[in-house]
Amino acid sequence: MRSSNQSLSFFRLILLVLVHFGLSTETHAQEFPNKPITMVMPYAPGGPGDAITRLFAGSMQKILGQQILVDNTSGASGSIGTTKVARSKPDGYTLLMIHVSHATNMAMYKNLSYHPVDDFEPIGLATNGPMVIVARNDFPPKDINDFVSYVKSNQSSISLANAGLGSASHLCGLMMMNVLGVKLNEIPYKGTGPALMDLMGGQVDLLCDQTSGTVPPIKAGKIKAYASANKSRLPSLPNTPSITEAGIKGLEINISFGLYAPKGTPKAVLEKLTSALQHSVSDPEVKKRLDAMGISAVSLEQATPSYLRAHLKNEIDTLNVLLIKADIQPN
Ligand code: MLT
Repeated sequence: MRSSNQSLSFFRLILLVLVHFGLSTETHAQEFPNKPITMVMPYAPGGPGDAITRLFAGSMQKILGQQILVDNTSGASGSIGTTKVARSKPDGYTLLMIHVSHATNMAMYKNLSYHPVDDFEPIGLATNGPMVIVARNDFPPKDINDFVSYVKSNQSSISLANAGLGSASHLCGLMMMNVLGVKLNEIPYKGTGPALMDLMGGQVDLLCDQTSGTVPPIKAGKIKAYASANKSRLPSLPNTPSITEAGIKGLEINISFGLYAPKGTPKAVLEKLTSALQHSVSDPEVKKRLDAMGISAVSLEQATPSYLRAHLKNEIDTLNVLLIKADIQPN
């Protein structure tokens, strides 16, 4: 009798702990956010991802009423910062802003310590933007036609920067080498921020990068643009032909950034974050700033968990095939 009473009390205690735990998670979710949030940008400062993350952090913090700090944990094509978010407490206070490398790193790194789908909760897509082939100012070819013949005849002496295996600039560079049938000397950086610095300084010859990082230095005359990796000419670069206009096929690529939280983040917290993201993508000031970088904010339907989940799946399926075709061996 005594022992059955003891087991009853034990079960009551467990029940109370569980109820308390469930209620307190819910209460925390209701109170969210009540302290600063960290948005991890897994590439170096000064690049496209950094500019986009800072813009969204600034806009979303006004809606959420709490400061959003940007943490550039860069290296290994974004996988170091992504690991940090995957391992952080799933409470909505540590978020990840990332692009295509969330999909491609699966094929790039043998010992990736996270799964891009299973270890994250999608919040929504934020931006969509094109890429452009740029060079140091004194790179000899005068236009895209000259560029093609020059690159074909001087390939062994030309250096091509990228932000690491699996980054957007790596993909664009691979596609460019593929369509032109050349093999250039690839130089990996921790982000296109430092790669752009070297391009402006003349230490590296070429880069195929997102317009968010390249439009300002092109306009300032610090680097030169040969062609956008796009079907049609970009409004942000009216004097630069598109690759399709230049008669080159198979080099159209767009890069989207999306926002994620670690797996297990409470639903109520995710809903608040999605709603803040949706406010930001429709904020005229955000749109104006993105416009100046040659990229666009996504629609409200795209700034949702279901859209980002499907987008990531599509990138994993299609881009990893491209990497396999290019015979890229995982690191
Ligand atoms: C960056 O922010 O440095 C870029 O997004 C890197 C890249 O993928 O090319």
